[in-house]
Amino acid sequence: MEFFSIIKNRRSIRKYKTDAVPDDKLKRILEAGRLAPTAANRQPFLLYLIRNPKDNKKFAEALKQKWALDAPVIVAVFGDPKGCWTRSFDNKKFHFVDVAIAMDHLILTATSEGLGTCWIANADPDKIKDALDVPDHFEFVALTPIGFADESPMEKQKKKFDELIVEK
Ligand SMILES: Cc1cc2nc3c(=O)[nH]c(=O)nc-3n(C[C@H](O)[C@H](O)[C@H](O)COP(=O)(O)O)c2cc1C
Repeated sequence: MEFFSIIKNRRSIRKYKTDAVPDDKLKRILEAGRLAPTAANRQPFLLYLIRNPKDNKKFAEALKQKWALDAPVIVAVFGDPKGCWTRSFDNKKFHFVDVAIAMDHLILTATSEGLGTCWIANADPDKIKDALDVPDHFEFVALTPIGFADESPMEKQKKKFDELIVEK
């Protein structure tokens, strides 16, 4: 798929077929996350791969959005506030930004592989971390199911060009 059509065609998918994600596709998707740029190249994140998420009882209970469990794979992303770059002017830590870029890389790669995804940030960080045994100092940012879409959502209304782009 041509790059800009990947951007245009991506939708948040909230209904999944149970068909497996082929290994070569999954590998490219995760690789896209691994190769994402990070501030000062600190790479302060971990991507947790959960296959057959329904089978992980603790994780399945922790997740409010039960529809996501139909997907054959879920990737959950965690940032490391101790390992990330900190901007000295205002002490702003950039792990959330780094994680978001990695997530976007893998989500757009999934789109290009013909797979659906959906950012899910609305989950209890403590429960998710506990279910996956994530090291204490990592912060849960979001997760996404990855699988073949079983719906074709319309494009969401986006703000107009002039509302978002400020030319000075
Ligand atoms: C940081 C972030 C967090 C989100 N969290 C959730 C969520 O918890 N549950 C959900 O169903 N969708 C979630 N979404 C998806 C948004 O609702 C969706 O991207 C938005 O409505 C635009 O639709 P589109 O992705 O189809 O363009 C999230 C998106 C982002 C970027």
